[in-house]
Amino acid sequence: MKKRAAKDYIVFPLDVASVKEAAQYVSLLSDWVGMFKVGLELFVQTGPEIVGMIKKSGNARIFLDLKLHDIPETVYRAMCRVAEMGVAFATVHCGESPRMLDAAVKGGGGNVGVLAVTVLTSITSEDIQASGFKEKFTTDMSNLVIKRAQMAKTAGCAGVVCSGREVKMIKEVFGTDFVAVTPGIRPEWGSGVKDDQRRIVTPSEAVSRGADFLVIGRPIRDAEDPVTAAQYIAEEIDAALTDS
Ligand code: C5P
Repeated sequence: MKKRAAKDYIVFPLDVASVKEAAQYVSLLSDWVGMFKVGLELFVQTGPEIVGMIKKSGNARIFLDLKLHDIPETVYRAMCRVAEMGVAFATVHCGESPRMLDAAVKGGGGNVGVLAVTVLTSITSEDIQASGFKEKFTTDMSNLVIKRAQMAKTAGCAGVVCSGREVKMIKEVFGTDFVAVTPGIRPEWGSGVKDDQRRIVTPSEAVSRGADFLVIGRPIRDAEDPVTAAQYIAEEIDAALTDS
């Protein structure tokens, strides 16, 4: 199989509030980023226009990260609209209902890779406990991640969003073709500032454990020089790919 370039692993979330700012990051980072992620902040502000803008600016793929979570009919109808937009991936929460995942996949109609969010990388065991889950999930959160990934696989999702700590297990259980996207990436050379991410790994850990895509936002966006930061990350990924 053809080795993927480091850039193909890097997903940069356009967590900004305007088309203008997003366009600046797209043009700045296009040499180092294979996919741009449009999330809630930008989509709420700009609507689908942003997808057209990114498409016009080059070859990068687009990940529409709206993390849908609603009754099946609403999720189905929303995903039908997403499927018309020509994006590579879109997200739905695993939540509590396999029917919601079925609806998302049906709405996608094979025109968009539906990714299911297992357990957010900002969540800790204490959070899971506080929201009323059984002890087997609070003592070992990977039980919950696997349970939800199984729901996603059964529904026909393209893959899951999980932490780099769980990706090896996901690949072992569900196979290498089941896509694993890992946010919560923090390079060792980063600022060390404690933010909302909790289940974090370095870029090289994520890649060597089998992640297909790494969502890397603040370590690039908030770096003194975002291009150099992206370049360092690409080099780290390259080295990890060579070693693995
Ligand atoms: O690297 P950083 O923490 O800045 O990345 C933040 C981005 O990762 C946000 O766009 C957020 O929506 C996304 N994210 C995600 N799934 C998670 C955690 C964060 O898609 N489990």
